[in-house]
Amino acid sequence: MQKVTAIILAAGKGTRMKMECPKQFYLVEDKPLLYYSLAAFEESEVDDIVLVTNREYIDYCKEEIIEKNGLKKVHSIVEGGTERYWSVCNGLQACVETKYVLIHDSARPCIQKEQIDYFIKEVKQFGACSFGVPVKDTIKIVDDNQLGIETPTRSRLWQIQTPQGFLYDDLILAYDKMKKDERKDITDDTMILEEYLCKKTKIIMGDYRNIKATTPEDIRVLQFFLKN
Ligand code: CTP
Ligand code: MG
Repeated sequence: MQKVTAIILAAGKGTRMKMECPKQFYLVEDKPLLYYSLAAFEESEVDDIVLVTNREYIDYCKEEIIEKNGLKKVHSIVEGGTERYWSVCNGLQACVETKYVLIHDSARPCIQKEQIDYFIKEVKQFGACSFGVPVKDTIKIVDDNQLGIETPTRSRLWQIQTPQGFLYDDLILAYDKMKKDERKDITDDTMILEEYLCKKTKIIMGDYRNIKATTPEDIRVLQFFLKN
């Protein structure tokens, strides 16, 4: 069995976006941002979807996003946690007998069906993958006084995106090991696989348009991409 489950993360608060609602519910072209990722995964070859969201938005997601748009692949909507990785953890618990799991940030609404289908093929080949793009700017590591202390070689730096895909059993095992530590510095799942299973992730060339809504200036760019 080669079943693929997508976990769509929509349980953040969007503090850096400074909106009244969490950014995943901000309306672009009359649809909440979350809708765009759900629709792309619905059309893709993934077998089913677990949606992770804030408790107070569970009914809204069910009625206004899933039912209203006739989405059929979401089989569970679960509550998120205080950190992104706790939200992933809750999503993993809700998966039903799956072989591969794709984790996607709903704050990246520009993901396309074709990209997801290509990504699934790569995950089946490599077992652990993430979309990413080469960094365009020079990156500096700074000290506590904001002084640059190191300049990593740019040609080796990639900006990591989602989806990220793994063998379900690997990710569950890595999370089980991680749960004992109360970590604050984990920003994605490839880090967990590296640190707790010593496994490498294949970085797949993604698309610069797959941006993450993070700060207010991202919204105009997203509106442009989503309209086109
Ligand atoms: N996320 C989540 N659960 C959390 C934190 C984040 O499901 N506890 C999700 C967000 O909804 C988002 C994705 O993870 O789709 C990426 O996180 P990020 O961009 O950091 O979103 P927020 O945490 O909502 O934003 P901020 O860090 O500015 O508060
Ligand atoms: Mg966050």
